[in-house]
Amino acid sequence: MNHFEKIQCELRKHPRKWLVTGCAGFIGSNLLEALLKLDQTVVGLDNFATGYQHNLDEVREQVSAMQWARFNFIQGDIRDSSTCKQAVNGGIDHILHQAALGSVPRSLEDPVATNDTNINGFLNMLVASRNAGVKSFVYAASSSTYGDHPALPKVEDRIGKPLSPYALTKYVNELYAEVFARCYGFKTIGLRYFNVFGKRQDPNGAYAAVIPKWIAAMINDKQVTINGDGRTSRDFCFVANAIQANLLAAMAREDRKDQVYNVAVSDVTTLNQLFSYLTRILHANGIEVTREPAHAEFRKGDVMHSQADIRKATRQLGYVPEYRIYAGLEAAMPWYVEQTRKTKVSTNSVPRQHASPVAAEN
Ligand SMILES: NC(=O)c1ccc[n+]([C@@H]2O[C@H](COP(=O)([O-])OP(=O)(O)OC[C@H]3O[C@@H](n4cnc5c(N)ncnc54)[C@H](O)[C@@H]3O)[C@@H](O)[C@H]2O)c1
Repeated sequence: MNHFEKIQCELRKHPRKWLVTGCAGFIGSNLLEALLKLDQTVVGLDNFATGYQHNLDEVREQVSAMQWARFNFIQGDIRDSSTCKQAVNGGIDHILHQAALGSVPRSLEDPVATNDTNINGFLNMLVASRNAGVKSFVYAASSSTYGDHPALPKVEDRIGKPLSPYALTKYVNELYAEVFARCYGFKTIGLRYFNVFGKRQDPNGAYAAVIPKWIAAMINDKQVTINGDGRTSRDFCFVANAIQANLLAAMAREDRKDQVYNVAVSDVTTLNQLFSYLTRILHANGIEVTREPAHAEFRKGDVMHSQADIRKATRQLGYVPEYRIYAGLEAAMPWYVEQTRKTKVSTNSVPRQHASPVAAEN
């Protein structure tokens, strides 16, 4: 039995009480589903800024009635300190803080909104959690913190200057976390996610991430546009790996805390490769992609290459990613195909047009 299997056994044997912020979003709803399937009690907090009721409904369909009864949802905003206090009260053991406004372009357009949620909201959660004396606080950090540092693969203690307001907010989270350990002895763990993908990642809207946006476009026979020449590369991480990292971090020994860890696979995939993987996997799902991608200008705020060194997480948390990109895409695809089918049935027709330009982002 590997370390993650042992942790899951331990949780099943001695269930805990968890708070997942951002539980109606992509990663949050996947965490919620995993925890309920392990018979944990979960409080969820979300204001539906970028999350959806239908994500919660889908989790409900995936778990038993008894498991769903262990979930309590608070519709509320982390920018409100009394809401954070309410969410952490009542004997929460572990916090998985995911709520934030994601997307580099969103932050370039509205840095104030990103700052409010990602920094003020984060601080509210940190204060409330410290006061409540929780056993662990794990938060979603980001690979965008590496900024303009050229070294590859990315190692946790070598970062550059932030390239966007979003990246800055995620770095400030890490600084606050460090200060809370130093000043109050409240030790947390930050997980620097690298381009996470999987079911329930929103394919719609101007700020959609590259994988869901491309899949939706390809299924709908729209042309995708690659920013740059397609040699831009990312370390795409299937959501199951991120779930593993969160559970391991929550249960980590005290001397593994007050740290940040990369969460990815340590693989390199170019956007051109991604396009060809998706074409192959869609073919296996009965969908033929006939349009070649178009190319546009490289996008502001994006880095050219990103690859994680995950040895620290492996060594200290026992993290061993279960899925590489291809297996993750294969696992996620039936969900995207089904979603598109449902959308087609409900709208009855999908206009054929160009999908807006996309590049990889964190
Ligand atoms: N998806 C990735 O590749 C990736 C990469 C790096 C970091 N992250 C971080 O991981 C976390 C989860 O990202 P995701 O991809 O699931 O995004 P998401 O947008 O799907 O989920 C974020 C959730 O937070 C909620 N939220 C936003 N503002 C809130 C507020 N003020 N109060 C309460 N809830 C609020 C949203 O409604 C949404 O449900 C975020 O912190 C994000 O910055 C994600």
